[in-house]
Amino acid sequence: MRRYLIAGNWKMNTSLETGTALASGLADHVRGRDLPVDVLVCPPFPYLAAVKATAGEAGISVGAQNCYFEASGAFTGEVSVDMLKDIGCDSVILGHSERRHVLKECDDMINKKTKAAIEGGLQVVLCVGELLEEREADKTEAVLDEQMAGGLKDVSAEQMANVVIAYEPVWAIGTGKTASPEQAEQAHAHLRKWLADRYTSEVAEQTRILYGGSVKPANAKELLGQQNVDGALVGGASLTVDNFGPIIDAGVELSA
Ligand code: PGA
Repeated sequence: MRRYLIAGNWKMNTSLETGTALASGLADHVRGRDLPVDVLVCPPFPYLAAVKATAGEAGISVGAQNCYFEASGAFTGEVSVDMLKDIGCDSVILGHSERRHVLKECDDMINKKTKAAIEGGLQVVLCVGELLEEREADKTEAVLDEQMAGGLKDVSAEQMANVVIAYEPVWAIGTGKTASPEQAEQAHAHLRKWLADRYTSEVAEQTRILYGGSVKPANAKELLGQQNVDGALVGGASLTVDNFGPIIDAGVELSA
């Protein structure tokens, strides 16, 4: 059985003080419980080391929200995979819709980053998802297929052990509009079939597919309860222990 991954994407939020307080509250929430789920938090770059020091000892993994594909050199403003490894990062979110649409990242760049991150030893949380107009034009599956093929170009079946997929319909991110459990399940089942067709049935069975987009305590259990939903990538509701704690606990309950 796939183990749930409950991941928090803090985006460009928190300060050193509030970020470490949040990490410390989450550490208190999970400490000593020997959780049957994996918990990951992804703070902004400047707070990664402090959050790792606070949350890491309680078994919470820490990830970045982006990285660059070159190892070092004249790339002003960028952060390499080795730098992230150096401060104890375990994972990196790549292809998030805000990077695709606000920062104009294309599949080719996301693919270069994905390969560099896997080769450097990071777990990649690769995000895919359609815009509202694409869903309304019945193009959801075509968009997902294109983003999967682009992001995972030249990524081998063995390397897929270090990849988690996050289905995040763009229209559901930060809007309060969640995909219905049926809509999520349909997209997740499609993504799993894509993995089986492109790789093998083992890869499809083993790869975790998270749902992201307005996940909150009130809808977490129903979403996580879908057959092909293996976790959540949580934005707004990952910023307080009161919200993120119950989402972790929903995964724990469903793992029993
Ligand atoms: P949201 O963000 O939970 O605030 O909708 C999810 C995400 O962008 O990862």
